[in-house]
Amino acid sequence: PMSLPETPPETNVTDKYAFAFDIDGVLIRGGRPIPEAIEAMQVLNGKNAYGVKIPYIFVTNGGGKTEQERCIQLSNQLEIEVSPGQFICGHTPMREMAQKYHTVLVVGGEGEKCRHVAEGYGFKDVVTPGDIIKDNPDTTPFRQLTKEEHDNSRARNFKEVKIEAIFVFADSRDWAGDQQIILDLLMSKGGYLGTRSETFDEGPDVYFSHNDVIWSASHDLTRLGMGALRLSLEAMYKAVTGKELNTTAFGKPQVGTFQFATRLLQQWRKSTHGIDAPPETVYFVGDTPESDIRGTNEFNKQSENTWYSILVRTGVFQEGTKPKFAPKATVDNVLDAVLHGIEREN
Ligand code: G3P
Ligand code: MG
Repeated sequence: PMSLPETPPETNVTDKYAFAFDIDGVLIRGGRPIPEAIEAMQVLNGKNAYGVKIPYIFVTNGGGKTEQERCIQLSNQLEIEVSPGQFICGHTPMREMAQKYHTVLVVGGEGEKCRHVAEGYGFKDVVTPGDIIKDNPDTTPFRQLTKEEHDNSRARNFKEVKIEAIFVFADSRDWAGDQQIILDLLMSKGGYLGTRSETFDEGPDVYFSHNDVIWSASHDLTRLGMGALRLSLEAMYKAVTGKELNTTAFGKPQVGTFQFATRLLQQWRKSTHGIDAPPETVYFVGDTPESDIRGTNEFNKQSENTWYSILVRTGVFQEGTKPKFAPKATVDNVLDAVLHGIEREN
């Protein structure tokens, strides 16, 4: 592990409390660390008034790469070592769906990355929009595959392929084409492309890795996210079929994500710090009231008051507005959030 020169060699680890961090808008914006994030990590690693180390995990709705790859990137950005054992992204819980479906359409992300993530999760037959356009270029009148996309896409005869479920793993790079393909499947007879159902109630199940309508990237103002694609798809489905579309979203604010995070934190504290009891308090630091604060507060009610929400002003939430879901504390940035938790504990 990378060692921090300022960290005293023999620091104690607290078993009383821990931190969990959202990433975009808290630690990172547009691929670059938020200035206070690096120091915040050093404080957790012992550079604080008490010389105490505080265990922490990361819970992001983002995705598009393997957990391993994302942790390497985060390690470089934050100048610490981040392990997949302390990391959950939006699509991590989709792993548990790999046994339920055989052939699935995976949407979103760069190139072939999400196909590889899905295969790594154990999905047996992973189709991408590129495979479908390669088989029938008339599918998307205004989108042609690049040479690279064409070469990477897998040739097959979709008349014979039953697609059982659709997983939106990461943000779509081509909303028009991807939505056309998703709608084609939703309106199909039992997941066979090129067919049309008479009842529109036999299409594949649809899952999104999260439901953030907006998120915080490098632009000063918030940007549209996967939740916006979901809204758009539901509206189009209604317009063309007259029916409501039911879809499922993972990620925050779903309580299941916080349960998953609780198990991960428990294992992490045990395997790296030798702590075998649950913490009294988990401080969750987020920037999006609808995902981070809502989820933390709801989970807190179910977990005997152990989760404590802290909202920062470096991302989606901006000063001057009232957050829809009220945090326990609001601070300027992630460093202040860490210091707030430490002060409350001492
Ligand atoms: O696409 C990612 C974004 O919607 C949220 O990421 O880290 O703020 O949960 P994060
Ligand atoms: Mg965020």
